[in-house]
Amino acid sequence: MGKKVTIRDIARLAGVSVTTVSQILNGKGARFSKKTQHRVLKLRDQYGYVPDFNARSLILQKSSSMIGVLVPDISSPFFGTFVKGVQQVAQHEKMVPLIFSANRDPKLEQEYLSQMIARSIDGLIIASATMTTDTISRLIGSREIPYILFDKNYAQHGTRVLTDDYRGGTLAAQHLVNLGHQRVIALKPRQQSENFTQRMKGFYDTLIKNKVNFDQKRDVIVASLSRPGGYAATAAVLASGATAVFAGNDDMAIGLLRGLTERKIRVPDRLSIIGYDDIYMDEYVSPRLTTIHQPILDLGIQSAKMLLSKIHDDHSSEQIRRFPVKLVIRQSTGQPRQN
Ligand code: RIB
Repeated sequence: MGKKVTIRDIARLAGVSVTTVSQILNGKGARFSKKTQHRVLKLRDQYGYVPDFNARSLILQKSSSMIGVLVPDISSPFFGTFVKGVQQVAQHEKMVPLIFSANRDPKLEQEYLSQMIARSIDGLIIASATMTTDTISRLIGSREIPYILFDKNYAQHGTRVLTDDYRGGTLAAQHLVNLGHQRVIALKPRQQSENFTQRMKGFYDTLIKNKVNFDQKRDVIVASLSRPGGYAATAAVLASGATAVFAGNDDMAIGLLRGLTERKIRVPDRLSIIGYDDIYMDEYVSPRLTTIHQPILDLGIQSAKMLLSKIHDDHSSEQIRRFPVKLVIRQSTGQPRQN
């Protein structure tokens, strides 16, 4: 290598980030495997790399570490707000967040993840309904890039941020029972991730516990997890004869609300709707949407903070942060109309 070897060269050759090289060469690399530390030190000696403190501080200042954020759909208000939380922390910590939205396509998710890893990023936040920790570990290989799993799959190990979906489903069902609804249906996505399974289970179990005549085969309508999905389910919802609907997320609820409004079906007089997430749009539809609140911005903030603590000083023990949910009653639910 003719030109002066830089810290970037060492990072590229070692297959790690600039931050990793810097930490190892400054004696702060204890959290990395002996293999990684040895590889970096061997390259330093092989190429006679000597830190140029002016360039080094310039590179580290300029390079400001990068974190990769992989979400299913950035156009969803939920993930848009989640990413906003991540960006707030990244900006404060002078880190560059690379945001990838894979439109819930597993192949694209893996492609984006490989691209991020190839760019020696310092850490990853992965919100994927399908990607397993085995796939992530295979893609990361020996690079030891720390990552945080968000939201989706309980079954996986690894540090992750969760909300109490089972309790959220319970709160939604109890609210409809307390209003006196006995004919209730639910909207859910075809491919449901672990957190959705827990959410719907909490809902079903609570209806059964309250002796509501609810049959999962008869009273669950499958729709895409989106506003068009909720809108497309309007006819099936009306054909069910239900007096209340639990939509698995607010996007579906808002799509259904449009379908009912177009058919001049009054909400909640003729049909109550409760959603899930508490996205910012809930206050701007009419009637305003009753829902289950997830602390979305804080989920993004805490995911980023947990990742930074793993990048700067990894606590190898697995961490799980679980956030509470709460019922937010607005105008889209009411007592069933007495026929
Ligand atoms: O609206 C997006 C949904 O995907 C949210 O309910 C969130 O929990 C994630 O599962």
